[in-house]
Amino acid sequence: MAFDLIIRGGSLPDGRVADIGISGETIAAIEPRLDAPAGRIIDATGDLVSAPFVDPHFHMDATLSYGIPRINASGTLLEGISLWGELKKVMTFEEVRDRALAYCDWAVSMGLLAIRTHVDTCDDRLLGVEALLEVRKLVAPYIDLQLVAFPQDGLYRDPTARQNTIRALDMGVDVVGGIPHFERTMADGRRSVTELCEIAAERGLPVDMHCDETDDPLSRHIEQLAYETQRLGLHGRVAGSHLTSMHSMDNYYVSKLLPLIAEAGVSAIPNPLINIMLQGRHDTFPKRRGLTRVKEMQALGIRVGWGQDCVLDPWYSLGTADMLDVAFMGLHVAQMSSPADMHRCFEMVTTVNAEIMGLGHLGLAVGKRASLVVLDAGNAVEAVRLRPDRLYVVSRGKVVAERGKRDTALSIPGRPASINRRHHL
Ligand code: FE2
Repeated sequence: MAFDLIIRGGSLPDGRVADIGISGETIAAIEPRLDAPAGRIIDATGDLVSAPFVDPHFHMDATLSYGIPRINASGTLLEGISLWGELKKVMTFEEVRDRALAYCDWAVSMGLLAIRTHVDTCDDRLLGVEALLEVRKLVAPYIDLQLVAFPQDGLYRDPTARQNTIRALDMGVDVVGGIPHFERTMADGRRSVTELCEIAAERGLPVDMHCDETDDPLSRHIEQLAYETQRLGLHGRVAGSHLTSMHSMDNYYVSKLLPLIAEAGVSAIPNPLINIMLQGRHDTFPKRRGLTRVKEMQALGIRVGWGQDCVLDPWYSLGTADMLDVAFMGLHVAQMSSPADMHRCFEMVTTVNAEIMGLGHLGLAVGKRASLVVLDAGNAVEAVRLRPDRLYVVSRGKVVAERGKRDTALSIPGRPASINRRHHL
């Protein structure tokens, strides 16, 4: 059997060393050694070959807009929302589309080949929705892009959000979103969760809700989200994003809450880069860390994936589309320092995130889509430590990004001529 492409001798995240044979857009073989001819052979000996990176939480309508029309002076979530409101009034379709496409180029270069982005539906023009629907079509040959209808200013708090969110879903947006903690009252927040889950159930859509992104320990909309998931039979289709208030909830209450989340099959998507930056801004000391209870949820079998949320926008002034940066921050804040936990952090930004997004066609297995990334690292833990170069990125069987290995040349008497930061454990 001849292949179009063979990735030769790479180390897989599970520790196997194998050749991967690709035919067309599909992984056709994974064997210790493939001797068949191939259109191209990439030598990945000693390198990590992984399923692609996946980001289940992003805001592509706002990305790369940092400084437009001004910078978030307080650094808070709420100033970010009002700043975004200023930008929304003046932005154009072309600007949103071109910023999003530029970000998608960054993503491909980082091996990030699937993204779930929220898109603001609190805009009578629905300009962001139109622009990202266009982007979804343009990048479809190389990125799986899912759109979430996101009523940023509140489903009920904003006068036309409800009708515009439904319009966005009618236009082909993939997922139902919400922001219950931003509604006027706790009761409105709960009601919004109920109505949005009912809309999703009627339409057969997934739900991904910004939920309790606050330091207020009494913000408990995740409870309602788990309840509605259970009541409406939405198991496996619902995610709660951020869930930061859980860091401050009463421990006894959490001991009841987490089993309910597990029972409903609701996934959790913490976003460590943005939330360690935004949360705790009203604290003096001790200052809260801005992260939900990751290890505690995982211990109960709740699916938890790391999301990126923002890159260079009204809320976050940094970012490179590197999901390994996200994992790196996440493992620090969640204190996931054991080898098993660090390995899990790598899985969280690859295979676990793909599961959360329902992307069963991704993964390193025969019959799956031939999308993968070759990293200049020996294994998954080393990849998290180094956040190394993506040597090759393959999407649907095609090499879409590649760069050479880079050792650092030294000019130090008595030292070797070059160094490489790789150090296999
Ligand atoms: Fe978000």
